[in-house]
Amino acid sequence: MIADSLRVIPATPAEWLGPLPAASWFAKPDQPLHVDVGCGKGRFLLARAARFPAVNFLGIDRMLRRVRKVDNRARRLDLANIRLLRVEAYYAVAYLLPPAAVAAYYIFFPDPWPKARHEAHRLFNARFLDALHRTLQPGGVVHVATDHWPYFEQLQGVFAADARFAAVAPFVPEADEQTDFERYYIESKPIGRLSVQKV
Ligand SMILES: C[S@@+](CC[C@H](N)C(=O)[O-])C[C@H]1O[C@@H](n2cnc3c(N)ncnc32)[C@H](O)[C@@H]1O
Repeated sequence: MIADSLRVIPATPAEWLGPLPAASWFAKPDQPLHVDVGCGKGRFLLARAARFPAVNFLGIDRMLRRVRKVDNRARRLDLANIRLLRVEAYYAVAYLLPPAAVAAYYIFFPDPWPKARHEAHRLFNARFLDALHRTLQPGGVVHVATDHWPYFEQLQGVFAADARFAAVAPFVPEADEQTDFERYYIESKPIGRLSVQKV
């Protein structure tokens, strides 16, 4: 693992095959772990980590440029409770994160893949729900937001049909926590918000 930044890159074959000791990456390993999947430029992650120092935040994104940007900002802001994983999100949740380790997932504006022939690329499918369930601690929550209504309806359907999750009040971010995509769409499009809890 690299130590000169907040970015975590598995180094050995054992680390790549996971599960990784996610808690040990943080100065205070016993704090609850919240994971921002597809954290983008990190507006939510940075604001949230500053607001809740007693929570450990892991940002996951596959775009190195974005992860670097969040890394730089988090270090400038001296946020000790952020770590970043540059990796494909399904792989991270399915294989790298330890079981029952996560108290909350935030999955805001996942790529919608709007064309019917591309729907298979969407992050949410039965296997991803299995992975979320495996890594959530009992009572852990998943918060999702999207501007793409067909994707939102699909998400409502798959979670409603899965007895391992129960709907809870949707998570609405504070103004300073709104992600870049939320700020872009909030005036022009309805935003679908859905939160569920591991039963
Ligand atoms: C539409 S942007 C949303 C970013 C941020 N959550 C927001 O609301 O502004 C989607 C982000 O997820 C990342 N992403 C998309 N698919 C991913 C995947 N399979 N694994 C990891 N990151 C992914 C992209 O690189 C991008 O930063």
